[in-house]
Amino acid sequence: MCPDSVETMTARVTDALREQVAEELPELAEIADARLRRLCVEAWAVALANSSFGAIREVPPSGTPGRMVLVKGTQTDHIRGVTRLAMAIADEFMASNPGLGIDRDIVVAGGLCHDVGKPWEYDTENRARWTAHPRRAGLPPMRHSTYGAHLCLLVGLPEEVAHIASAHSGEGELLLRSLENTIINMADIGYWHVMLAGGMVDPATIADKYRRPLSL
Ligand SMILES: [Fe+2]
Repeated sequence: MCPDSVETMTARVTDALREQVAEELPELAEIADARLRRLCVEAWAVALANSSFGAIREVPPSGTPGRMVLVKGTQTDHIRGVTRLAMAIADEFMASNPGLGIDRDIVVAGGLCHDVGKPWEYDTENRARWTAHPRRAGLPPMRHSTYGAHLCLLVGLPEEVAHIASAHSGEGELLLRSLENTIINMADIGYWHVMLAGGMVDPATIADKYRRPLSL
């Protein structure tokens, strides 16, 4: 679906969809701030309601469309895995270096929302439109990172979380990542490296930045 007005995009969200998102992402319970927790649900609900996907688990389990495709599991496994890895990193450094001032709520919210733009980037209707006219708006017009940041800001999430969506990925090489986003970036990259090393990524879909001379 094309991006629409804020009113139209939010009007498509139902309470049933919000409940489903909450069920798909149980790590939401780790967010102490109730408003932040609610806005994470809202971001995913708006993302799904304005896509061809009815659930996060319906989004193909990969890093980008057709690249780093997991041989089993769903997109929720990636989102939740990155979030739990990030929490483990944060908990270690909060214990060993309390002076760092890590905001754990932002780590959890950022982990859960870092790929919230994927339903739009993977949407089959969108991809058909972009592929048919790649020079009109780009292919894609922006990646899930940038669109995810748009969704975060649209629902009222703080800029700290929008920054994580926007710059957890290669886009973040153009700026200075926050402390919490550095944790998400490491967790996200670590997730793909471990899954690749464990033979859990379809060899035909390995992205260049993860490819090694002996990649199988
Ligand atoms: Fe990710």
